[in-house]
Amino acid sequence: MANTARGPAIPFTERIRPFYGGIFALLCALSSELALRHFVDAKGALPTIGRVTMMFFSLYVIHRFATVSYRAYRPSFRDLMALTLLIFGSMLIIWLGKVLGFSLTTSSFAAGYLHDVSPASWNFMIPFAAASLVLQAILGLHYALVCSLSLAFIVGIYTPGEPILIPYVIATSLVAALSLSRFRSRSAYLRAGLNISLVALPFTLCSIITDGQIVTVDAAVRIIGALASGVLCAFIASGVTPLFEYFGGYVTDLRLIEMATLDHPLLKELSIQAPGTWNHSMVMGMMVESAADAVGANPVIARVGAYFHDIGKMKKPLYFVENQSPNENRHDKLSTSMSALIIRSHVKDGIELARKQRVPAIIEDMIPQHHGTSVIEYFYDKACAEAEANGLDVSTVDISLYTYPGPKPQTREAGILMLADGIEAASRTLSEPTLDRIQGLVQKMINKVFASGQLEESELTLRDLHHVAKSFTRVLSGIYHQRIAYAEPAEKVNEEDASAEEGSNDVGDSSSAKKQEVSGEERPGKEVSKEDLKRLGL
Ligand SMILES: [Fe+2]
Ligand SMILES: [Fe+2]
Repeated sequence: MANTARGPAIPFTERIRPFYGGIFALLCALSSELALRHFVDAKGALPTIGRVTMMFFSLYVIHRFATVSYRAYRPSFRDLMALTLLIFGSMLIIWLGKVLGFSLTTSSFAAGYLHDVSPASWNFMIPFAAASLVLQAILGLHYALVCSLSLAFIVGIYTPGEPILIPYVIATSLVAALSLSRFRSRSAYLRAGLNISLVALPFTLCSIITDGQIVTVDAAVRIIGALASGVLCAFIASGVTPLFEYFGGYVTDLRLIEMATLDHPLLKELSIQAPGTWNHSMVMGMMVESAADAVGANPVIARVGAYFHDIGKMKKPLYFVENQSPNENRHDKLSTSMSALIIRSHVKDGIELARKQRVPAIIEDMIPQHHGTSVIEYFYDKACAEAEANGLDVSTVDISLYTYPGPKPQTREAGILMLADGIEAASRTLSEPTLDRIQGLVQKMINKVFASGQLEESELTLRDLHHVAKSFTRVLSGIYHQRIAYAEPAEKVNEEDASAEEGSNDVGDSSSAKKQEVSGEERPGKEVSKEDLKRLGL
């Protein structure tokens, strides 16, 4: 980014952000007139201006409504162009569908068969929902909603004699987007296509009943068209989505799943160089996937983020406690500031490795965010103790040397990852991991991170934290195979557990694990008050 005397220059695409709604509405309005004006009767200059203006305001209102109502709908310029391009692509498909329908009708009529089939009956075969499927895969539900409503407006204005197409477009597009919300394999497209057909079918049957053409060839054409539209949507979306992945740089859940197969070179290397870290990451993967699912965040992003969050440790694996043998601690021979420097460097090293291997940005961002701006307390406390022993004030210890660079977690997935990081490490220090002890540990650690302010930019709510705590407890107690008749309240967790909970696997001193700090722990308050626990609803 170029710098000016007043600071970094703002890119042109950011400077025109207030006009995104207008740009989107204008491009779609003009292109719909261009593509679909053949299907309306009034073709003069005034009707054209009227339709374009009508479309412009309609689409602007949809964009504005989504921007105001949904936090998830904050399109970048690239997103706006992808949305516009997919709507324009849908218009071309509509144009092609209608032209083919008309040609089939006229040619079959001329050949002496399919006499009673109306050109409009072929409309049910048009794959209106394909764009919605692609948008769900690359950008999410809210973009699919904007696309569905926009297409319905366009169809409403440019196919005036076929009002049933408006609800048809909305229903099939929304079902398409919802069907793909659990996008785990290529077959998800086929399942979505099947769902589209299942929704299209009742619409078609209603149109047949309304027109009173129950046992006719026209009715058969409509039914076959409705069934075929789902297949066509799946076919088009599965072909077009990789183009957006490749040329637009979008990352779908499917691509992330492919990365998480453990065949990825970075994960293979991690399992060899730092098996302890690899194991920690795998357990975290289970924890964050379950928690993200429970709060409605993206479980795939969370799981893959967990796999890659500590890849930087493979550069100096033996300085991290989970990779050390019991009687070995490389930090014994180092100064506290040097130890902290090595510990902190796993974040920078991780980002470098991720960039080298072209790990998607959404995963790379989770590497610095999993520690946020927390302090490496073990070494900071050690440095303070050394300063006092030398007759110096603790204020002479530079806390910035012991602080992770940040940023704090920016998403719910990153926030969950930060919580799981400390909890997974601390759970290993529990001498008897019974259900109530795990529950107490989870509750206390979540409360600490929450109170430290590290989660304040992550959009995790108190309700979310409650669900995260339940998920973590369930996964960890499943791993440890422990059962207990009932859970004790958090404040009854005994002192032994309380000290064990201070563990963090990022610090290299295995013999002192019980004294180590929680990632993201707030500096001043080491004990958690009952009031804090109540605030969290834990
Ligand atoms: Fe880490
Ligand atoms: Fe970690």
